[in-house]
Amino acid sequence: MAKTKTAFFCSNCGAQSAKWIGKCPSCGEWNTYNEEVIRKESSPGKSGVPKRSSISAPLALSSIESKDELRFSSKITEFDRVLGGGIVPGALVLVGGEPGIGKSTLMLQLALQLNNITTLYISGEESPVQIKMRAERLGLRDSSCLIHTETDTSLIFEQVDAINPDIIIIDSIQTLTSPDIDSSAGSISQIRECASEFQKYSKETSTPVFLIGHITKEGSLAGPKILEHMVDTVLQFEGDHNNIYRILRAVKNRFGSTSELGIFEMRSSGLREVINPSEMLLSQRDEPYSGVAVGAIIEGVRPIMIETQALVSSAAYGTPQRSSTGFDLRRLNMLLAVLEKRCGFKLGIKDVFLNITGGLKVSDPAADLGIICSILSSSEDMPISTKACFSAEVGLTGELRPVMRIEQRIAEAEKLGFNEIFISKHNIKGLEKQFKSIKIHPVQKVEQIFALLFG
Ligand code: TYD
Ligand code: MG
Repeated sequence: MAKTKTAFFCSNCGAQSAKWIGKCPSCGEWNTYNEEVIRKESSPGKSGVPKRSSISAPLALSSIESKDELRFSSKITEFDRVLGGGIVPGALVLVGGEPGIGKSTLMLQLALQLNNITTLYISGEESPVQIKMRAERLGLRDSSCLIHTETDTSLIFEQVDAINPDIIIIDSIQTLTSPDIDSSAGSISQIRECASEFQKYSKETSTPVFLIGHITKEGSLAGPKILEHMVDTVLQFEGDHNNIYRILRAVKNRFGSTSELGIFEMRSSGLREVINPSEMLLSQRDEPYSGVAVGAIIEGVRPIMIETQALVSSAAYGTPQRSSTGFDLRRLNMLLAVLEKRCGFKLGIKDVFLNITGGLKVSDPAADLGIICSILSSSEDMPISTKACFSAEVGLTGELRPVMRIEQRIAEAEKLGFNEIFISKHNIKGLEKQFKSIKIHPVQKVEQIFALLFG
């Protein structure tokens, strides 16, 4: 009678231990160890990956051909941008996101747009009919995309070896099971084994493999961190369910930068790329409203113009309320304290609501000045010109601090028809380029901005 081997795994970081432990020595979390069956000794070598006989020997680095030029386009510009310029052969990419955010839609759209490239879409979550319905909704038709609804990796690899696809998409890694492992689908040892089978396959055959992965409520990838170490690229698909915009960002990328961002719009007929994000983030307004200001920020490597809306009103109850959507509440409180201390605005007795339009979460400190101005504008009920924008960080002393890549921000503002931009005085020194149709106002302190705006 063969013995069944079990081990304990940390559900947070994937660390393995022979016995149960209360506190994980690797990530420090408490009570995260679960027992899982790791291998049935009665079934050696029944692994999904057929044993390949190629014996690999060490190679001189200089003798290895660079394959960068082999990257191919996914036909989705925003997706290529986030990947660092296209799909790399042999790359293992994890696409993570909350349920219902649009991961399956994105990947099916990718599969269907790649005509003449055989894509194998393996789904453990939906039936072929459901996938067909989705494809019809997307309005895309492609004969080279194959759908396979299977979760057993050994059966999947039988098909993969028969078809030899150019791209494999797995929806999702949590539904797969390897016959070598006895625990249920979605357990740490299953996820790890299935991912490693596909990792091996993608490296041996130079086939790009996309794994879709769910995200837990806390925002981390369900399953162990080890999945993130195994793959070459981790893409995160995020957004607000109540908003139509979705953001794809690279959290890890062995083949490109992680600062890139792709923006999509979820329509009734699938995802549409947003090539010019500034236009989408600026609301269409002909006349100026009080409480609205536009900031020039940088997300990844792209300059984006964002609109901030503030509402300042007398507190109806004893404790004034502060609420912020898309911006750190603690930083908002800090900016309010600076306004109170340096400019003498009595905001301590006012309710302050702040909203970044478009559902974007802003972390660039250059948004500070725009936020301060929207608060001032609402507090005084005086609108700011629709042609003015702001880009500076605000320090605790009330001084305006310079921000990086100011020329790119000014150029974006000029391109979108703004004719005034307020920046830190210290940014002026670094300016080399001449801007013709936009007036640059250098400002030293936050106290001065009120006089400059409202005279
Ligand atoms: P889905 O791709 O199934 O999400 P995930 O795989 O991340 O769980 O997307 C589901 C949501 O997207 C669902 O709420 C409906 C919406 N949707 C559209 O708005 N338009 C479309 O064309 C499609 C296919 C889905
Ligand atoms: Mg899905």
